[in-house]
Amino acid sequence: MTGVKQYDFRSMSFYQIWIRSFCDGNGDGIGDLYGVYDKLEYIKSLGVDGIWFSPIYPSPNADYGYDISDYRNIHPDYGDLAQFKKVLQKAHGLGLKVILDLVINHTSDEHPWFLESRKGKDNPYSDYYIWRDPKWKRRAKRPPNNWFSQFEGLAWEYDDLREQYYLHVFAKKQPDLNMDNPKVREEVKGIMRFWLDMGVDGFREDVITYISKHPQLPDGIPFLPAINGLPFYKDGPNLLTYLKEFREVAREYGAIQIGEAPMTPVKTALRYLTGEDRVLDMMIQFDTMMADCFLTEFVHHGFWLAKLKRAFSRWQYALAGKAWNALYLENHDHPRVISRYGSEKYWRESGTMLAACYLFQQGTPFIYQGQEIGMTNIRLSSIDQYKDVASIHAYHAFYKHGSEEKRMHRIHLASRDSARTPMQWSVASNAGFSSAQPWFAVNPNYTQINVEQEERDPDSILNFYRRCLALRKSSQTLLWGHYREYIRHSRKIYLYERSYAGERILVMLCNYPETGTTGILRPYEVRVFQWGSE
Ligand code: GLC
Ligand code: CA
Repeated sequence: MTGVKQYDFRSMSFYQIWIRSFCDGNGDGIGDLYGVYDKLEYIKSLGVDGIWFSPIYPSPNADYGYDISDYRNIHPDYGDLAQFKKVLQKAHGLGLKVILDLVINHTSDEHPWFLESRKGKDNPYSDYYIWRDPKWKRRAKRPPNNWFSQFEGLAWEYDDLREQYYLHVFAKKQPDLNMDNPKVREEVKGIMRFWLDMGVDGFREDVITYISKHPQLPDGIPFLPAINGLPFYKDGPNLLTYLKEFREVAREYGAIQIGEAPMTPVKTALRYLTGEDRVLDMMIQFDTMMADCFLTEFVHHGFWLAKLKRAFSRWQYALAGKAWNALYLENHDHPRVISRYGSEKYWRESGTMLAACYLFQQGTPFIYQGQEIGMTNIRLSSIDQYKDVASIHAYHAFYKHGSEEKRMHRIHLASRDSARTPMQWSVASNAGFSSAQPWFAVNPNYTQINVEQEERDPDSILNFYRRCLALRKSSQTLLWGHYREYIRHSRKIYLYERSYAGERILVMLCNYPETGTTGILRPYEVRVFQWGSE
């Protein structure tokens, strides 16, 4: 295959920006590209090598940017194409790569393609989406199958204009594209080229493993709420073929592709990630997240270290020498880990321990805005104050049997909004995020947890992240070394080793306030030992 040589993303690390809450540069209470422009030096100072932007395109914000109404523009809230180009140029000048979110499983229902598609079966866009006739039962319209959407009720919505149902695996305002239509795939390639021609360095590809649906759309498994249809739209029959097509475009530019792959098992992942002709460079897998997140709220409550360790090790071992891991703990879907996996009481200890727990594994780390200063979950008093469609639905539909207190407790732990509060820059009003009233609540703990203060404190979580990222970058052992886990059965300690050319680095992490009989580590302590060469 021809193409431009790809840059070596393996030694890099990335910072994720969820722009609406990052930094407001023009004083309207909403984060934007003016704010990003001003903070690029800060991002660079962390020691990362690139930025992944969650969607910055025009969007009605039913799912805060993941419902796109124009793929080739910037949301007016965030600036315009000219400002994006400025950010891109400055980032490149600082040696930072820029990766955009490519959301092509679905569009917004306000996208012109959908507006056209609704009009009938004989317009050029009629097959851009997944439309089906109703099933009739006792003269009543029924959806084509029993699938539930992941965000709001049934996965099918009846459209009066077209007189058919359309499929939406996520919110109602996110109709799924019909990727089996070659015209849709050409559109995707066109969108990729549009941004790659501008100089963008790659894509994080949203729920990319959902784009090929089972042709018969069979009924799903009845007892799996919200994901009963999953086996029929995840890792579908044509996925690899379609990914190959997109890969060819990326190859022409040497761009990297990071695929988000909810619930894809590691064995399947290897199909996409292995070798020179791989179709994805890295995968955002959900095993680590499933140790405790909004998706597991249905099954079990609370964090489970054993599950997390197992997930980490499973991917480390399976990918070793064959493929490359994307490492992450937090993102815009996954609440703050100090509040979930660690302890707000032992804030500094658990924040630094959690950093070391993943940054020293083999892979390319992603750090979500605010994670580097140890931001914690927000706890708003009523569901009316929340914005996320999935959280609001969960409160009304899934948590409805609990007391108000219990329901809100689950929202506090698991809501995606918990990690979407404005970035805490300083002790100034609105945490230095904006001179105006921010679009979403600021966590009141900004007076203790903020960038300005942590810059001055050599032992802050912020400076610990910097040290870890610098150490990772300078160490052949941490970059390339063999991974091995010890005392797998410990329920309190996570212990792993990296070894390379005679050097060994041992990472010991305690994840509990009490270490009991082990007595080796203090609560939430981390120790890193290095021996061998040097
Ligand atoms: C991904 C995104 C999430 C979004 C969903 C639908 O999981 O990370 O934020 O809601 O896809 O686009
Ligand atoms: Ca703004």
